[in-house]
Formats: sequence, C-alpha cells, structure tokens
Amino acid sequence: MSDIQLEVRDIAKTFGAVVALQSVSLTLRRGRVHTLLGENGAGKSTLIKILAGLYSPDRGAIVVDGHAVTIRNPAHARALGIATVFQELSLSNNMTVAENIYANHEPARCGFIRNSQMVVDCRRLLAELGIEADPHQRVGRCHWRTGNWWKLLRRSAFQPRW
Ligand SMILES: Nc1ncnc2c1ncn2[C@@H]1O[C@H](COP(=O)(O)OP(=O)(O)O)[C@@H](O)[C@H]1O
Ligand SMILES: [Mg+2]
Repeated sequence: MSDIQLEVRDIAKTFGAVVALQSVSLTLRRGRVHTLLGENGAGKSTLIKILAGLYSPDRGAIVVDGHAVTIRNPAHARALGIATVFQELSLSNNMTVAENIYANHEPARCGFIRNSQMVVDCRRLLAELGIEADPHQRVGRCHWRTGNWWKLLRRSAFQPRW
C-alpha cells in the first residue's frame, strides 16, 4: 500500500478579485506530522477549509488513498477521515462533558443518539488522554474547561486518520 494518504494537486481558489490559492500541491504521508507555514494571507486557512469541506476549490484535485474525491461538506470530510481543529471552539456550559465532545457526531443507531455508548466512548477517550473527568459532569463545573484539551478531545473523538 502506498504511504501517501492525502494529496492536493494544483488547487486554486479565488474570492472575487483575491487569489487565495494558486496552484497549490501537497502530499501527506502516513504516520507523519506535516506543518504548513506561511505569512498572514498566504492561504493556509483557505487550504484547510477546502480539506474540511467548507469551501470548494476552483480547480485542482484532492486524492484520498489514491482516489480523486470531491469533498461535498464537513460531514463528508469527516467520513473521509479528515478532522479539523479550528482556533475558536465554543463550549456549552450547561451540557455535559460527553455531549460537548461528541456534539454533531454523536454515536447513533437508526437516527437515535446512543447516550450510553457516548458515555462509554467518552470515558475511554478521557482515559487514553489521561484526563480525570466525569463524562456526566456539566462543562460549566469543570475546572479544566479552559485551554486546548477540548480541541484535542473533540478531534480525537472523530477517530481521524490525520
Ligand atoms: N471568505 C473570504 N472572502 C474573501 N477573501 C478571503 C476569504 N478567506 C480568505 N480570503 C483572502 O484569501 C487570502 C488567504 O487568506 P487565508 O487563507 O486566511 O490565509 P492564512 O490563513 O494563510 O492567513 C487572503 O488575502 C484573505 O484576505
Ligand atoms: Mg489563517
């Protein structure tokens, strides 16, 4: 199997007269951490938003595991194994730890949220990351609610490949 998991080929994106991306190509390999560096306005966020299914590119191709894909929306991106952590993350203080972590991707069967499964999954995730917290606790009462834990937790909950 190829160790190339995700490829961006010759992507372009303009916003009116602004050229955000012009012929961008990128190759992500299995098991590596890649860093995208660039000055303000270089187009980093635009590229990530394209991969997250928030914007469509004007041209170019995205190839996942050797197959060209058109990422239709954020849910489709997640289904392809692409999870995104944005700088801003809102939490609902009156929802529980588990509900916040699994918001919008709750484990479900036949369209019904499986609360007990969500709590089990949440407990396992907290243990994996070494966080002592109760999945049932309301976030407003968590002493560790600030900082980057939430981003990590929520991202991990998607079981992303990247
Ligand atoms: N939604 C948008 N509408 C118009 N212009 C945008 C939009 N998003 C980004 N841009 C422009 O595209 C360029 C790249 O922006 P961005 O991807 O945010 O860069 P970076 O994240 O590297 O700072 C900038 O000139 C920015 O002003
Ligand atoms: Mg940015």
